[in-house]
Amino acid sequence: MPSITYIETNGTSHNIELPLGATIMEGAIQNDVKGIVAECGGSCMCATCHIYVDEKFLDKLPTMEEEEQEMLEGATAEVKSNSRLSCQVRMSNELDGIMVRVPEEQ
Ligand code: FES
Repeated sequence: MPSITYIETNGTSHNIELPLGATIMEGAIQNDVKGIVAECGGSCMCATCHIYVDEKFLDKLPTMEEEEQEMLEGATAEVKSNSRLSCQVRMSNELDGIMVRVPEEQ
């Protein structure tokens, strides 16, 4: 299974293996990563699953759909070039070893 490292705002890191096809949001919720709220449960309706993705993996991510782009614009924390909504990114072998940071607020 591909692995992912989540880094919370206080620097705590969680290195976890996720099944192929699981979303980065699901992995965070199931493993008690602090700071991923996911109010809408993954329906791309809340932007409280905002993450910053390690730049090295940006070109391996699935293309952002318009729906995600629009929702992300309403995120509470600063939106950066490496911002994504974690419920819209599914784990794949290509993403093995990815690192994501949780923003200061959601
Ligand atoms: S969980 Fe609501 S937009 Fe991702």
